[in-house]
Amino acid sequence: MADETSIFIGASRKPDDSYQRAEELLLRYGNRHGLVTGATGTGKTVSLQILAEGFSNAGVPVFCADIKGDLSGIAMMGEAKDFLVKRAEQVKLDPYQFQEFPVIFWDLFGEQGHPIRATISEMGPLLLSRLMNLTEAQEGVMNIAFRIADEEGLLLLDLKDLQALLANIAERADELSARYGNVTKPSVGAIQRTLLVLESQGAANFFGEPALRIADIMRTTRDGRGAISVLAADKLMMNPRLYATFLLWLMSELFEELPEVGDLDRPKLVFFFDEAHLLFEDAPKVLIDRVEQVVRLIRSKGVGVYFVTQNPLDIPEKVLAQLGNRVQHALRAYTPREQQAVRTAAETFRPNPDFDCATAITQLATGEALVSMLEDKGVPAMVQRTLIRPPSSRLGPITPDERRKIIAESPVTGQYDETVDRESAFEMLQKKAKEAQDSEAQAQQQNSGGSRWTIPGFDDVLGTGNRRSSNRQTVAEAAIKSVVRSVGSSVGRAIVRGILGSLARGR
Ligand SMILES: Nc1ncnc2c1ncn2[C@@H]1O[C@H](COP(=O)(O)OP(=O)(O)OP(=O)(O)O)[C@@H](O)[C@H]1O
Ligand SMILES: [Mg+2]
Repeated sequence: MADETSIFIGASRKPDDSYQRAEELLLRYGNRHGLVTGATGTGKTVSLQILAEGFSNAGVPVFCADIKGDLSGIAMMGEAKDFLVKRAEQVKLDPYQFQEFPVIFWDLFGEQGHPIRATISEMGPLLLSRLMNLTEAQEGVMNIAFRIADEEGLLLLDLKDLQALLANIAERADELSARYGNVTKPSVGAIQRTLLVLESQGAANFFGEPALRIADIMRTTRDGRGAISVLAADKLMMNPRLYATFLLWLMSELFEELPEVGDLDRPKLVFFFDEAHLLFEDAPKVLIDRVEQVVRLIRSKGVGVYFVTQNPLDIPEKVLAQLGNRVQHALRAYTPREQQAVRTAAETFRPNPDFDCATAITQLATGEALVSMLEDKGVPAMVQRTLIRPPSSRLGPITPDERRKIIAESPVTGQYDETVDRESAFEMLQKKAKEAQDSEAQAQQQNSGGSRWTIPGFDDVLGTGNRRSSNRQTVAEAAIKSVVRSVGSSVGRAIVRGILGSLARGR
């Protein structure tokens, strides 16, 4: 199937409602991004489902979030329900075949899929600050914390590493302020408290190792289909900021890790961003600018990003302008804001003389949409009233039993299921603090004329103990320095932070 050049979306209709022609998404423009919009219950999820099916069949791996659990059925064979068969006839989908798709279930909480994790280092200060909703001053401290960790070779893997580093920074606040600018104890304390809140919301599961390998969401099956990664997001949506930050992180990882490929005959990966308004709501301008930048540049890495949201006004104009393939389901137009949304949505299309776009948007039936895909030379096609095809996989959710079976048989089973807690900032700082304490105690004993015995091999520590004990700051500093020496080689790689501040690996 991988020799196809397009994905069948549905059939457009003439003014008298009769069949006009097949509407298709050209795979070679699949990386020019897309947008699926519409009010509640108008058919967005089904449109996402048939797009994901089409990409998978064309050999393109897909990543999508399943907000309500109703996308999970994509892993199961569809059934010939009357209304689906009728729709297939209307759009001249013949034969209408049923299919189950190769799905990998993921879950930040590790309950409805394989655990998906990132390290604190990979997340970076910009996204973490956004996740924790930090003030500008606190974000400044967060930046300094990351700089210190980078410079001093402290591995930041999980939340307790970050806690330990912050505690250490609070202790050295005066010294660090002199070196890096304002690091006040209250601002460090505020970040520490926010971290505790984050932990209580279950984010501790998400930070740590083994971290997600991008290659695992870019798998294809032996028969040449793209794997569909489905992120369980029902529980995640209770913390919208974690949801949005996670997807942003994933997008920036893709951007940082994938090579430039230019224009291909089909994308390397397609990424669906459902409830996309969460990405931009209350986001600071710098973040929006950077998202815009990533969206623009990720194209040449062969990644297509498809935003799914109720209202096109949810997406900043600069981002909207980059979304080439569009499926606009019905919108309501009762309030002025809704009417504005309808006008905006209508204006973004290349008009069709057969109908008035704004009127049509308010009259579309369920599973019907205004569709405009990029055609030859990447120009948007004239907008068409289109009946969307029915899915080949199951419409609606999978059962818990079916899910368990798929998880057990997935190609990544066993790779992410157990947390690995290797030595990182928390353990290092703890160990060094204890050593410093011990040596201080020893030194005090010596000074007060106590025992004169020495532990073999520890003469050096005891020898410097006298000097150290006179200055607590120096103790902490010495501890960190020796940490640098001991882990220097394992962190021995260029640390480069990308557009969204995440860590570029493997360079
Ligand atoms: N292309 C289609 N073919 C057949 N039926 C469809 C199609 N699209 C939508 N439907 C029907 O409409 C119902 C609602 O569609 P869907 O769940 O996609 O809406 P939605 O826009 O995602 O809603 P929400 O905003 O609540 O998530 C589906 O369960 C299905 O019965
Ligand atoms: Mg939906």
